[in-house]
Amino acid sequence: MHILIILFCLIVKTGAVLEKTATPPMGYSTWNTYGMMVNESIVLQIAQAMVRLDLPKLGYQYLIVDEPCFLGRDSNGVLLADPVRFPNGMFMLASYLHSLGLKFGLYTDAGPTTCGGCIGSYGYEYLDMLTFAIWGVDYVKVDYCSSTDTYTASTYLKFRDAIMSTNRSMVLSIISWGLDSPWLWGRNVGNSWRIAFDIRPEWQSILSILDQSVGLEKYSGPGGWNDLDMLEVGNTPLTFGESQSHFVLWSILNSPLLLGNDLDQMSSEITSLIKNREIIALNQDILGIQAKMIVSDVWAKFLSDGSLVIAFLNRGSEWLNVTIYWNQCYVLDPIRQQRYGQHYSAGIYSKILASHNIIVLRFWCQDFHFILDNIYPVSNNSLGPFNPPLISAATYISPIIVFLPFLLF
Ligand code: GLA
Repeated sequence: MHILIILFCLIVKTGAVLEKTATPPMGYSTWNTYGMMVNESIVLQIAQAMVRLDLPKLGYQYLIVDEPCFLGRDSNGVLLADPVRFPNGMFMLASYLHSLGLKFGLYTDAGPTTCGGCIGSYGYEYLDMLTFAIWGVDYVKVDYCSSTDTYTASTYLKFRDAIMSTNRSMVLSIISWGLDSPWLWGRNVGNSWRIAFDIRPEWQSILSILDQSVGLEKYSGPGGWNDLDMLEVGNTPLTFGESQSHFVLWSILNSPLLLGNDLDQMSSEITSLIKNREIIALNQDILGIQAKMIVSDVWAKFLSDGSLVIAFLNRGSEWLNVTIYWNQCYVLDPIRQQRYGQHYSAGIYSKILASHNIIVLRFWCQDFHFILDNIYPVSNNSLGPFNPPLISAATYISPIIVFLPFLLF
């Protein structure tokens, strides 16, 4: 009997694999604001700000130290934290973050050197993942600079197997910038995969990554996510409207939501944006469906309660007058946290949509007999029905929704 119990425990233990990310990981990553300057006191400051702002309660649980820039290795090959930058070492840092209810993320690189020129994990994958596990790391970001491996997938498989051999649950974030189509193999290897090169706090950069995400929705879902990169929300020169569109888009596209702005210098409107529960709910929905672009700059996705989310982006420089009608629906504007209609009813939403802004609406409809081809996008004043490549299942039938946006000028 005892042997059976031991065997059972062994099976369960060796079955402990990568952390299961049922919903996209949320947290904070140091790179976008602190770059190569990150150190222990900055991390403590971020951790305290996260707690003060109640971010962990909203789901922002990981604090990821990007480019910790290890000093070297000891005689056994074990990574050495820089005693000047991290005087208390990584184990103490992890313990402190855990005591605050946060989880600890750490960066390394698949090649011999990181993108910032520090020491990477090449040839030390098993030892480094074991070291990370002993330190108490919960999330591993593995960058791809200086890697000379021919097959990106096999490079990351080494890290997956190394993590699994430690028996500590850790999230593996694959950062091969879309090289070798990680969406095709990433699900079996890690928890998320970057689809593009690095984000910058510029509208064109947001649009470029957004456009690269189109068509990848089928690969994303519970356990493995398309990673559109860390958030630039709140970082200049993005305007507030651009930050808002960026946050809504990353949310409905089920990207990991990793904040990257200075939490101590945040405006009140950015604070409200990143703390908006209704937007976060679109990202953290357990069904895990990434929004699909059903017509140019209109995205749709279903949520686990059968509601339908539709987002309409104005990427251009003109203002748009947008009118949306519905029938037999109950509607929520997550950005404004405003509801329309107390019961399922007909309704209308009319708004001037400024350049680089977004409208997102969540529909609960009583009558699900009409499908998405009742959406009529209008651009350049020409009205036309379209046949969307349906989010298949006609079981999810949508409301009658008519978009009537047209150019003001
Ligand atoms: C690469 C990654 C970034 C960041 C930097 C750090 O560029 O894509 O996310 O981690 O390296 O050097």
